[in-house]
Amino acid sequence: MQTEHIKIQNIAAEEHLLRHAADILRRGGLVVFPTETVYGLGGLATNASSAKAIYAAKGRPSDNPLIIHVADPSDAEAYAHTSSLYYRLAKAFMPGPLTVILPKKDTIPLSTTGGLDTVAVRCPAHPVAHRLISLLGEPIAAPSANLSGKPSPTNAQHVAQDMDGRVAMILDGGESEIGLESTIVKLDGDTATLLRPGAITYEALCMVVDHVSVADAVTHRLAENERPLSPGMKYRHYAPTAPLVLLTGDRERVLDFLRREQSQKNCAILCYDEDLPALKGGTLFPIGAREDLAAQAHNLFRALRQADLTDAEILYAPLPPTEGLGLALYNRMIRAAAHTVKHID
Ligand code: TXA
Ligand code: MG
Repeated sequence: MQTEHIKIQNIAAEEHLLRHAADILRRGGLVVFPTETVYGLGGLATNASSAKAIYAAKGRPSDNPLIIHVADPSDAEAYAHTSSLYYRLAKAFMPGPLTVILPKKDTIPLSTTGGLDTVAVRCPAHPVAHRLISLLGEPIAAPSANLSGKPSPTNAQHVAQDMDGRVAMILDGGESEIGLESTIVKLDGDTATLLRPGAITYEALCMVVDHVSVADAVTHRLAENERPLSPGMKYRHYAPTAPLVLLTGDRERVLDFLRREQSQKNCAILCYDEDLPALKGGTLFPIGAREDLAAQAHNLFRALRQADLTDAEILYAPLPPTEGLGLALYNRMIRAAAHTVKHID
């Protein structure tokens, strides 16, 4: 398939291009579009064969459900059974990087939800995503636009590496601002369960919801045969070709350890900006200042893609904290590292 690559710089002036993209979606085609979290691989949410095409393009098992993207939180009414808690969350965090799982209505085919009777709803804040959904007049089903097993793409170049030739169109809307996928919560009465941490933090959710629990799989390895709350949790997540080891401990000792490793091995290191001078040379990928979790979120997937292109035999990165946005970084890193953490005392 020939993929059209379209850059959107001015939505008003280039609306005809977005109309063209909406037409492709309406006819059952696939369009990759930018969101503020990561890029999405979009198809018509109400069309079973679009969902099948998405799974095929991504190489994803078809029991792993898709998020439906709406232009306005109240558009969820036609597709899901909402609740007052849904609207409280929507008022606080939508449009934005929050996905809410609700009981689904028949307007969404089971192929879109991987056979589940619930549907994940998100209202993205990115102006291109918003305009595209509005022009289509229907929700867009979209997983992250990476091939299954790769990090989510945060720019159009990364999308093209994975999706060129597999989709009708790639809309380039620049770098994804946040860089990590949306926070996912599942609602049950007046309680919420955090299934995937993102830029809407656990602490922020607690300001709006009285009872927020965190699913075990956010921080821990699933036990053999354990049934996860979200199908996505059971699949092997992105892991680089070389083993990734997460380091924790006193800063100076960690740097000593890394310098020793650098002299003995071909290693690639994801490091904080301020540690660059101490590590000198070698294959280094700065991810932001130690205290700047937003910069780290923004840079993480690019750094992992770059580190994976080196011939390093081992990768090192700092173990993120579990507070605030740190929990989202921790969740992605611990899975990429297959839970390998080295304490350096
Ligand atoms: O930021 C994001 O959420 C991006 C952008 C494109 O919106 N999308 C994204 O989609 O990350 P995806 O498919 O890569 O991850 C969605 C996760 C999957 O792990 C899936 O299993 C879970 O959400 N999920 C979707 N619907 C669900 C449902 N009804 N119940 C439980 N988990 C669900
Ligand atoms: Mg994904």
